Amino acid sequence: MNNEGEAQSPNSKLQTPNSKSRIRATHTFPREFKWGTATAAHQVEGGHTPSDWDGWEKLPGKVRGGGTAEIACEWWAGRWREDFDRAANDGQTAHRFGVDWSRIEPRMAVWDEEALDHYRQMAKGLRERGIEPMVTLHHFVNPLWLAEKGGWENPAIVSYFERFVRKVVNALKDIVDLWCTINEPNVGAYQAYADGVWPPGEKDMSACFRALRHMLLAHAAAYRAIHEIQPQARVGIAHHFEFIDPWRPDFAPDRWVAGLQNRVFNEIIPQALHTGRLAYPVGQGARGERLPELAGTMDYFGVNYYSRRSSTFDVSQAASLFGRTFHTPGAEVDNLAQNELYPEGLFRALEWANGFGLPILITENGWGDEDESRRNRALLLHLRQTWRAVNFNFRVQGYYYWTLVDNFEWERGWDQRFGLYALDVATQSRSPRPAAHLYAEVCKTNTFSADMAARYAPELLPTMFPT
Ligand code: FCB
Repeated sequence: MNNEGEAQSPNSKLQTPNSKSRIRATHTFPREFKWGTATAAHQVEGGHTPSDWDGWEKLPGKVRGGGTAEIACEWWAGRWREDFDRAANDGQTAHRFGVDWSRIEPRMAVWDEEALDHYRQMAKGLRERGIEPMVTLHHFVNPLWLAEKGGWENPAIVSYFERFVRKVVNALKDIVDLWCTINEPNVGAYQAYADGVWPPGEKDMSACFRALRHMLLAHAAAYRAIHEIQPQARVGIAHHFEFIDPWRPDFAPDRWVAGLQNRVFNEIIPQALHTGRLAYPVGQGARGERLPELAGTMDYFGVNYYSRRSSTFDVSQAASLFGRTFHTPGAEVDNLAQNELYPEGLFRALEWANGFGLPILITENGWGDEDESRRNRALLLHLRQTWRAVNFNFRVQGYYYWTLVDNFEWERGWDQRFGLYALDVATQSRSPRPAAHLYAEVCKTNTFSADMAARYAPELLPTMFPT
């Protein structure tokens, strides 16, 4: 035994002089791996738009703390430039940003060329900084004229969306060739038409499925239109995964309900876009519907991942398919108790997505919290799952952290802070959080390491880099 109480190895000559030194592992990503951040138009732009959200957020009780996106990060007033500088200085090579339909087509079939030019400047601004742009064409917000015609419930939205997409793609096609048609159809349809917490505030499961169906048809129409204009385009959606696990895995009703919720929330959308068959949950025709135009309309699989939930069978919960969901008892959650820290879920999502045989982009992942130590830890833990997936040869090609600068988080207003940079909305000053430095090191070195963990989240060392 040496004086540390450790057994001497037979190769003691090969040991480092300092018996306490630990293995300093460095995990490296493939050379072309994209490192970026993701944003969405309404959440960062500020100013008023003729959109459904612009009015909705001002209604009493709709947004926590009465927050609005009226000022946001002032990107419409030009502050995207300084924020893109930050992204570039921090070594980012990719950025996903959104265009706001209501700015581009403020009235039906009336086009605002200046708005289109604004987005051209942003896309160019990214290229000039060595950052590859990805453009999201729809991120939860509809123009008011369209909302007044029934929004996603109106089948005409499919052709309206296609027309809008043609306009945008024609305007940006010499700068952008990576497109995300619709952000999180499952979340968008559920929040707006079933849970009723987003405009138009409906609480009707069948309206939710009608809206979802139209989103998928609109995506497929956009997919074809984009390829017609730009054959080399890469087009997909950003699909939100939230794993729903049985609360009591040995209790059959919990397993059944969690399985059903998982299928409906996580699986039916990508499957529909792959096979052209849209499965419906119980009570809506279990065999589903053939929609051949949906088949093969993803060039990449976009994964948005934040959290998981547990579910238990509860007959009183018809609106959520007879499952009552909650955070897994004992799980670590953020300050609003919205998301559960469950990094393995990212690996599970990537593994499932990998089954589609497409390149995968992690189009969103992040941690919104007031506790800085948790943000660093969450980032490192999710990067580790990403790296694991890459090492299993899943086709993961990039990671977009949500988000660059604190922004307007929908019904959560300004109470949930996801930014690498903290924002003071009133003064518009930005300050880097520790996670901004951590992420910059990751982006610049294309690695994450024990050394980074030691400096940003030392509590992780024993489990993440055991010696
Ligand atoms: C996702 C949304 C994005 C943002 C993050 C935190 O579901 O796509 O706009 O609000 O959650």
